[in-house]
Parts: sequence; C-alpha cells; structure tokens
Amino acid sequence: MTPSEFDKALEAAEFVRGRAPLVVPRVGLILGSGLGAFAEALEDSTTIPFKEIPHFPLSTAIGHSGRLVLGRCRGVPVAVLQGRAHYYEGYSLREVVLPVRALGVLGVKLLVVTNAAGGINRKLRARGFLLIRDHLNLQGSNPLLGPNEERFGPRFPDMTEAYSKKLRAIAKREARSLRLPLFEGVYAAMRGPSYETPSEVRALARLGADVVGMSTAPEVIAARHLGMQVLGLSLVTNMAAGLSKKEISHDEVLEAGERMASRLTAFLRALIPALAREGE
Ligand code: HPA
Repeated sequence: MTPSEFDKALEAAEFVRGRAPLVVPRVGLILGSGLGAFAEALEDSTTIPFKEIPHFPLSTAIGHSGRLVLGRCRGVPVAVLQGRAHYYEGYSLREVVLPVRALGVLGVKLLVVTNAAGGINRKLRARGFLLIRDHLNLQGSNPLLGPNEERFGPRFPDMTEAYSKKLRAIAKREARSLRLPLFEGVYAAMRGPSYETPSEVRALARLGADVVGMSTAPEVIAARHLGMQVLGLSLVTNMAAGLSKKEISHDEVLEAGERMASRLTAFLRALIPALAREGE
C-alpha cells in the first residue's frame, strides 16, 4: 500500500528526531532564495541535507541548498528549512508542503516563512522588507486537494487570519526597535516560473497585491490546516515587471537577497525569542 501523506510526514519527522534528539523545535522557519545566512548563526546546530530525509522534495532552484538545520536561536529551539521545493519545479503541492507537515509532527506551533518577491506597490522600494498581512493564492491549485487527512486538520480550514495578527504585532514592534522599515501588505502567489508580464503586474495591483512571488501560499495553507500560527516576511528584491526599466533576472534576485541577508538575520534573531515568549 502506498503510504499516506501523514505516514510520510511521520516517517520524515521520526528520522529527524533520531538525528537531533535533543532539540524539540518550537519555532519553524522556511528561508527562501539566497536567505540561508540565519541558519549559520544558530547554536548547537545539527544539519541534515534534505536528500537524506525520507520523502523530502529536493529543491532544484539555484540559491536553495536544501538542508534542515535544528538548533537554538538565543536559546529558543528552532527547525530551519533552508530552501524549499516550488510548484514550478514540477512537484505536486502535496510534495511541496511535506516538510511543513513534518515540522508540525515534530511539534512546531509557530512558523516563520520568508521569500524573495517583486514589489508591486509603488510605495515599496526594492531592497526592503514586507510583513505579509494576507495572500492571494493564484497558483491555480491547493495542497489540500483530495481526501482530507483528519490527523493534520479539518476538511475546510479557515483562512481568515492566515497570517497571525498577534505575531504581526510582535514583528512590527521588533522592527521598530531595530529601526527597520517594515511595510505591511498582500503577497500574490503565482505559479511561475516565468516572471510576470507588465499587464499581469497591473492586474495584480488591482487585485490588491503589494508584492508577487512563486511560493509561500501552499506552505501557509498546510500550516494553517495543521493549526500553526504563521508569520510571513517578503524580501523585496526587485520592482515587479514594468515598474522599472530593468529586466528581472534570478541573479539579481539572489544578489539582492544576499545583500539583505544580514539585516534579515538580525531581525529574525530579535524576533524569534519574542515570538517564542509571547506568540502562543
Ligand atoms: N516575480 C515573481 N517572483 C519573484 C519576483 C518577481 O518579480 N522577484 C523575486 N521573486
């Protein structure tokens, strides 16, 4: 018999537990393109390449190294997914969200998702951070399609507060104390892998999107299904198509991400203890 998605998540989680028995993670993080630096700064860390973990999808995108790092951030036990699989790589959304479900089985209740995104709202300058208030799932699919797995969550999970208001308030406060400008807005998730056309970007603006990217929505849907509280951060690595004269390139996205990585790391190191203290 083929294993259920629950069996797969359980097998992955048990493997991870066997490799890092001392860390029971409280906060999970997903680090997007070029944002891996935070994981290097953890204490007591154990690194496990995705390719060793049963059922984990392997990321083929450049800039995603594909490792799970367990460790402590200022004392708080965390599990960091460094790299992710994307829908555009040809994975099903069920495969894309398996790592989030494995973190859920490991006991993670708070999830911080990060990504690189193109800025649509003209008030956003490229190279800034955006706190995700909500998303538009425009990927044309959903990771919860098919029979529902009650051990993960209900058939029809509520998405009213996909991105926790309480966690957002904590993030805004921590950003203020670091004097880090933090714009709050809506993330549009496209399927990719081609970047948007200028007409698509205008349409997204009319739909209420402030930034656009190719990930995050499926993981957040799966996390909410599991009952996790979610915080989302976009790094605005470029202005979306048609808003600047420049063409968009993945190299530029990675470079901008790397330039912002140290600020993101400082922000996350302030944020994680505050989330662990006040978030649940
Ligand atoms: N569009 C979609 N995804 C992205 C972009 C963009 O402009 N920049 C980084 N990821």
